[in-house]
Amino acid sequence: MRAFGRSLFLLIVAGAFAGSFMVVGAQDEKKAEYVGAEGCLCHADPVHKSWQLSKHARAFELLKLAGQEKNEKCLACHTTGYGQGGYGTAGVEANLEGVQCEECHGPAGDHVEKMDKDLITRTPSAMVCARCHMEKSIHARP
Ligand code: HEC
Ligand code: HEC
Ligand code: HEC
Repeated sequence: MRAFGRSLFLLIVAGAFAGSFMVVGAQDEKKAEYVGAEGCLCHADPVHKSWQLSKHARAFELLKLAGQEKNEKCLACHTTGYGQGGYGTAGVEANLEGVQCEECHGPAGDHVEKMDKDLITRTPSAMVCARCHMEKSIHARP
């Protein structure tokens, strides 16, 4: 457990470094755009297929069932790229409902346009999951 804590700490530090480099680069570089899961169909089978069967793909349906699909408190974890230029951003037409590819792999516009495997986060770290999956569910009921 301690070893895990330590490597998690290192991950965070590494992430912070990567982040600061990215900020430097971001000044003259446009951030990639979101294309939506339909834009990722080069990976049709098995990746897209199995994602489509996952609960992530249907996370927005949960909000609809609960009548909460307009509640801003819910969107960051039940849509893709909310507040990051994705879901809900003016001018973005891709369907970004639910937890899609780009929520974990980052916006794929450049990757798709140039067909370059270096222009996407290929293996997202566990930090990505932790953003939505807290140690104790935020939905835990008393
Ligand atoms: C911090 C991220 C986060 C936020 C914010 C969030 N959710 Fe969730 N939601 C999750 C995760 C992760 C799961 C799946 C596992 C779990 O329950 O922790 C989930 C599961 C659910 C479920 C199915 C399971 C259950 O407990 O019923 C519903 C319904 C739901 N969320 C509705 C909402 C609504 C409505 C809001 C806004 C009021 C919301 N969520 C806000 C992350 C979030
Ligand atoms: C919930 C987060 C999440 C979602 C959603 C997700 N992925 Fe992934 N993906 C990962 C993680 C983590 C890995 C690396 C670990 C693994 O291989 O399982 C991965 C691995 C991959 C790989 C292999 C990369 C390599 O170079 O080995 C491809 C391709 C991929 N994902 C494409 C997709 C596509 C396309 C979608 C949407 C249809 C998608 N992913 C949705 C988290 C996600
Ligand atoms: C943007 C928020 C978000 C991110 C990031 C995210 N999840 Fe989820 N995850 C959810 C929500 C919301 C649900 C609930 C869907 C439902 O219950 O229908 C869920 C459900 C799940 C489930 C149960 C789904 C099933 O198909 O049985 C697993 C397992 C899971 N997530 C693992 C992961 C892993 C591993 C990662 C990182 C690679 C990750 N999640 C990243 C929001 C997220």
